[in-house]
Amino acid sequence: MKLSYRLHIMAILLALTCHLSSTRAQATDPSMPHLVHENGRHMLMVDGEPFLILGAQCHNSSAWPATLPRVWSAMTALNVNTLEIPIYWEQFEPEPGRYDYHVIDAIITQAREHDVRLILLWFATWKNGSNHYMPQWMKLQPQKYPNITGAQGQPIDSPSPHAPATLEADIRAFTAFMKHLKEFDAQHTVIMVQVENEPGSWDSVRDYSPAAQKIFNSPVPAAALAAMKKSGASNRNWRDVFGRDADEFFQVWHVASYIGQVAAAGKAVYPLPLLVNGSIRDPFHPGWPPTYQVGGPNDNVFELWKAAAPAVDILSPDIYLSDTDAYLKVLQLYNRPDNPLFVPETIGHGAITRFFFAALGNGAIGYAPFGMDDTIISTGRDGEPLSAEEKYGDTALNYRLIKPMAQEIARLNFAGKVQTAVQMAVDSTSGPGSSWDRVHYITDQTLHFDGWDADIAFGRFQRLARIQNQPEGPDGRILIAELSKGQYLLAGYHCRVLFRPNGENRERPWQYLRVEEGRYVDGVFKAERILNGDQTDWGLVFATPAVLRVQLYTR
Ligand code: DGJ
Repeated sequence: MKLSYRLHIMAILLALTCHLSSTRAQATDPSMPHLVHENGRHMLMVDGEPFLILGAQCHNSSAWPATLPRVWSAMTALNVNTLEIPIYWEQFEPEPGRYDYHVIDAIITQAREHDVRLILLWFATWKNGSNHYMPQWMKLQPQKYPNITGAQGQPIDSPSPHAPATLEADIRAFTAFMKHLKEFDAQHTVIMVQVENEPGSWDSVRDYSPAAQKIFNSPVPAAALAAMKKSGASNRNWRDVFGRDADEFFQVWHVASYIGQVAAAGKAVYPLPLLVNGSIRDPFHPGWPPTYQVGGPNDNVFELWKAAAPAVDILSPDIYLSDTDAYLKVLQLYNRPDNPLFVPETIGHGAITRFFFAALGNGAIGYAPFGMDDTIISTGRDGEPLSAEEKYGDTALNYRLIKPMAQEIARLNFAGKVQTAVQMAVDSTSGPGSSWDRVHYITDQTLHFDGWDADIAFGRFQRLARIQNQPEGPDGRILIAELSKGQYLLAGYHCRVLFRPNGENRERPWQYLRVEEGRYVDGVFKAERILNGDQTDWGLVFATPAVLRVQLYTR
């Protein structure tokens, strides 16, 4: 072997060893943001402490130094601890191989000034299924960086996952971006990165170009077969193995493999937690693709995504469903032992904001409504501009209530101690004329704890503490965390909670030993008063937002 060749090999090995050991060092560095998993539950760690993402996402075109002031004003009003904000490939790489870091640096520097963490959204090959954020120099070479072709040969406004040059360019740019984060952000202002945005295609289930068709007619890769428990079907093509699901699964596998490679390359440089968000299908009425976007992490293709993109830590639903049952179902579907629940986009005003509590009850590591900044004047149904209170009020209230105890909630959720309930429907019995029976004996939902049940009633006239300003929508919400047996932390509003002994405590005489109303200061609960008499004898009424600590007692 020639000396120069041997030196070359040694140099490669050395580089590889240094790279691997630095990756390992980062992965074990406790200050590095990372996820922990235990007993099928998950927790995000930031600066070595549990962290609950109380987030909001800005509008798509707000990540410019000129617009940032109108983002920060909203983030302050919202009480967020995390901003989700895009990084645009077209801005980042204006010419091939020339990277422009000034916008990223401005965002990170200003986030620190506002004491807000960041989740950066890599708007690159896919943004809502299209290639619109690719740099101009790529868009102008459609042969090299192609879109997909529909079944009738028509052009589709969606990049092909079978394009090696596009993949290579995205890997190169994403790696440069992650390398820069590693160098510029030693204090970990950036806690996660989203790879692409709502990837996949609309208008065509897959690419029908001759090149893609050739792959479609080839044997399904062994890893895809294994993921779908079809290992016996080796050497058979997609149609033969998957029948009428073949087109969809083919597209999903290739989009996920593509993003898996981009994610892995970035993670090798700087191992931040990575997520992919999906424009999800309705869990109860999914329809048939492409009536929903195909390629992203839908609930029916989780296994394909997990197998094709192991460097992606979190598959996330963007939830724009307003139907209560559908929304709650999606939360359940994405909270899995192999997948932390994180909602990176949803609606941030009105009664829908109660689903933040539902997400917490499903073990969520975070939540972030979309489009929450001051760059766009939002209008209500009457066409009048919404006030800041109308636009942000409900999300701000959620976060004002939970933020002081966010770390405690993340920790308790990881231990499986948090349960929540949200109002399912508008209450038709509310009003001052409600009868005694209604006041006392209606229960909408019951949460079960060790030795105790909590009966929850929403939205009705509550004796001695009538719920004021009950809005039109069903907006009641409550979180109950078990601190120890018989001791609970409660936070919420527009509901009443009645504890009663159950299990081994059933039939025993009992009472509230102590009910404290207060607030968290620097992570410690400070009681402001003890509730008793009328404030506990008819249940614990959350007519307005409140935080209680309750100690129960049986003989
Ligand atoms: C979902 C996308 O992910 C966002 O970037 C944005 O386009 C919203 N839809 C618009 O409502």
